[in-house]
Amino acid sequence: MNIRDYNFDGKKAIVRVDFNVPIQEGKITDMTRINGAAPTLKLILEKGGSLIIMSHMGKPKGKKKPELSLSQIVDAVSQTLGVPVKFAPDCADASEAAAQLKKGEVLLLENLRYYPEEEGKPVGIDKEDPAYDAAKKEMKARQKDFAKKLASYADCYVMDAFGTAHRKHASTAVIADYFDADNKMLGLLMEKEVQAVDNVLKNIKRPFVAIMGGSKVSTKIGIIENLLGKVDKLILCGGMTYTFSKAHGGEIGESIVELDKLDVALGVEELAKKNGVELVLGSDSVCCTGYDFSTFSVKPGAQIKVFPSNAIEAGWDGLDAGPDSREKFAKAIEGAKTILWNGPAGCFECEDFTAGSRAVGEAIAKATAEGAFSLIGGGDSVACVNKFGLADKVSYISTGGGALLEAIEGKVLPGVAAIKGE
Ligand code: 3PG
Repeated sequence: MNIRDYNFDGKKAIVRVDFNVPIQEGKITDMTRINGAAPTLKLILEKGGSLIIMSHMGKPKGKKKPELSLSQIVDAVSQTLGVPVKFAPDCADASEAAAQLKKGEVLLLENLRYYPEEEGKPVGIDKEDPAYDAAKKEMKARQKDFAKKLASYADCYVMDAFGTAHRKHASTAVIADYFDADNKMLGLLMEKEVQAVDNVLKNIKRPFVAIMGGSKVSTKIGIIENLLGKVDKLILCGGMTYTFSKAHGGEIGESIVELDKLDVALGVEELAKKNGVELVLGSDSVCCTGYDFSTFSVKPGAQIKVFPSNAIEAGWDGLDAGPDSREKFAKAIEGAKTILWNGPAGCFECEDFTAGSRAVGEAIAKATAEGAFSLIGGGDSVACVNKFGLADKVSYISTGGGALLEAIEGKVLPGVAAIKGE
């Protein structure tokens, strides 16, 4: 079903959005995802429907963690939609609240991932445990029941959570089984994102430069290997820099590292060489003696200094790309015609460590002004682009991180397949 053709009048729509937004001290620091889903939500209200909005936030792993409560975003959603938003504090016990919804009213459900059934993975049991398979089977059955419960709240289902469309979860895919084809559809944001990916995949202009940041090489290895078959240059920045430094015997002080992934880092370098891809890694780092990761601030009395990324003294933690690295990154981006950026180059949440991500963002903006198509994805890189005032200087800002990268890999996203039946 196409959302534009559906008759929402007097109907209840359950809409899966990705409102996994960054929150600092109770305040949303980036509204991209909420604004991204707004056209779909407003369209349903305009067409006379009522809304049951559902999302996850963070990774509570089946536990009710108050810091990941969606109650924190009620006001923001209400302001964005211009209508009051009711809140259901238990997403699996919202039948009554849903039944009472009148035309034009909006109900936001609490974090879906407070229930392990959402992800459908057994909790507290190791994959090696002989009882794991049985536990998995049982959890899959519970996942179906959970999805059925969510489906029972509404007359139709709209999937608009592009950021989570790569997950085969109860609310992103399984729920679709409980609606017939005439009563389930993709939202406007999903359509736009899928179209943007199609445009890039089918129309790569070279040179194609990808910038991958973030703290761990392990979480991005699949995408990195895949991109090494597509791009001309790959910039790797952020915390994963230190796993590469360590793999070559460098000193990295207290910087984040994955000691069990040193061979993976060397493998990436080898594959890049084999494929003729220019791999660009940071050569120096802005380091600190005391950074508080919970408040994103430098502890009182802590010092900041630049070190070569492979000669960081004990007691110092690499938190951003240094001046040489920044120049290297900007040079690599110069002249690109297709650009993909996912993951920041440093702890950009703190002013002292924004320079790396800013340099990347500004170089992308410059290349875009010179004709490149630039696609930015991932909560943190999008937050960077917004923070540095570059949002209107890049070609497309995706609300997806992992989902965008999987789509770029050419994988069919379960959230799309559930609706389109692919
Ligand atoms: C994201 O932030 O990329 C999405 O919300 C998906 O979150 P997840 O990686 O925890 O599934």
